[in-house]
Amino acid sequence: MTDIKMTDLKFNIKSYSFEDTRKIGKSLALLMRRGDIVLLCGDLGAGKTQFVKGVAETLKVNDNVVSPTFIIAVVYKGEINLIHIDAYRLESFYEVMDLGLDEDFSHAVTVIEWGNRVADFLQDVFMTITFELGDDDNTRDIEVTCHDKNRNQAVLKVLEELTLTINVK
Ligand SMILES: Nc1ncnc2c1ncn2[C@@H]1O[C@H](COP(=O)(O)OP(=O)(O)O)[C@@H](O)[C@H]1O
Ligand SMILES: [Mg+2]
Repeated sequence: MTDIKMTDLKFNIKSYSFEDTRKIGKSLALLMRRGDIVLLCGDLGAGKTQFVKGVAETLKVNDNVVSPTFIIAVVYKGEINLIHIDAYRLESFYEVMDLGLDEDFSHAVTVIEWGNRVADFLQDVFMTITFELGDDDNTRDIEVTCHDKNRNQAVLKVLEELTLTINVK
C-alpha cells in the first residue's frame, strides 16, 4: 500500500444507494486532472465500478463503463480520456505497461479497481478510495484519502456539498 504521509487527509462518507456512489464519483472527478491516478479498493460488489461510472459522466465519456475484469484495461474517450484498469489479476503494474495501451497516462485520468494490488508500483497517486459494505444491502462506507495536500481543501468542499444532497433526500 501507499505509505500514509503527513499530508494525507482522510474523509468518510456514507452512500445509501448506487446512485449516491455514482454521484460521489461524478463530483470528485471535477477535481481530477490529466495524469492523475486514483486507486479504488474494496471487495467484489463494493461499488468501485459504480464510482467509475460517475467519474466517466464528468469526463464526458459516452460509452457504458463496465468492470474490465477480463481485459484488464480499457481506454474511454472523453473530454479527458479515462483509463479504467482492473488490477484483480495483476501481480504488478508493469503488466499494465506490457498491455501496450494506446494511451499516454500523463494525458488521461487513470482509475484502478483493486488498486491496492499495484499501489507499491505507483509513486504519485492523487486519491485512494476504499469501499466497504455497510449496514444493509444498499449502504456503503466510503473512505477517501487525498494524497495531494494542495487539493485537500477542494476534496473537503466537494464532499461537504455532496453530503447535503446525499443525506437529505
Ligand atoms: N450504495 C451503493 N453503492 C454502490 N453500489 C451499490 C450500492 N448499493 C447497492 N449497490 C449495488 O452493488 C453493486 C456494486 O457493483 P460494482 O460497482 O460493480 O462493484 P465492484 O466494482 O466494487 O465489484 C451493484 O450491483 C450496485 O447496484
Ligand atoms: Mg468492478
